[in-house]
Amino acid sequence: LLPTPEDCGRVVADAVIASVTAAQAGGGPVALGLATGSSPLLAYREMQARHRAGEWTADGVRAFLLDEYVGLPAGHPESYREVIRRECTDELGLEVHGPDGSAADPVQAAVDYEAQLQAAGPVAVQVLGIGGNGHVGFNEPGSSLASRTRVKTLTERTRLDNARFFGDDVEAVPRHVITQGLATIREARHLVLVATGEAKAAAVADAVEGPVSASCPGSVLQLHPHVTVVVDDAAASRLA
Ligand code: F6R
Repeated sequence: LLPTPEDCGRVVADAVIASVTAAQAGGGPVALGLATGSSPLLAYREMQARHRAGEWTADGVRAFLLDEYVGLPAGHPESYREVIRRECTDELGLEVHGPDGSAADPVQAAVDYEAQLQAAGPVAVQVLGIGGNGHVGFNEPGSSLASRTRVKTLTERTRLDNARFFGDDVEAVPRHVITQGLATIREARHLVLVATGEAKAAAVADAVEGPVSASCPGSVLQLHPHVTVVVDDAAASRLA
């Protein structure tokens, strides 16, 4: 619980860099799980600044996406692969792996990405945001707590939330996504959830203090042994 989003960014960067550095010490490649959206952006800036300052290295680190839109052509500026390259990984020099949302057969692309994660994992540290409705990744309310990577349909609320990235045109927001499942996400060694602002307060309270339930997919974090939840005052305002 921290006063401002900037403080949250610093603490998330601390946690991610510490987990990556510990995993690097074990030798071999390190899988770093990244979320898109606004919540982690300040953390990514901070990770880049500390990388420029030589405080950590990305040697052996490969990035893995949480989710991807279905149907945007490869290279579309709002595809999550492009967003994460721009906002985070290009500067760090990381290879990015993610579901192929432009595949002719998205159902198979989801199966393939799950297999890729199984082969490359476990993810050392997974950065997460949370939707106003409690979604993590694009596991909307009602998602099975045992779910694996698969195609999902976005709720109207999430499409409206994301219209800001598509010139405020909700019709331009894809209807389907490929997302890691809740069981897939739980396989990461360390989960770091960041949420800022009043709009996330109810979802944070449900996820952290509510019952573990598919009606709040973020509540699945309660089943994980190593979770760091980083919130500013506004996002924490409904916690008991
Ligand atoms: C993004 C993702 C989503 C976002 C969530 C919050 O890869 O999986 O779960 O983390 O929608 O989005 P922001 O951070 O934009 O409020």
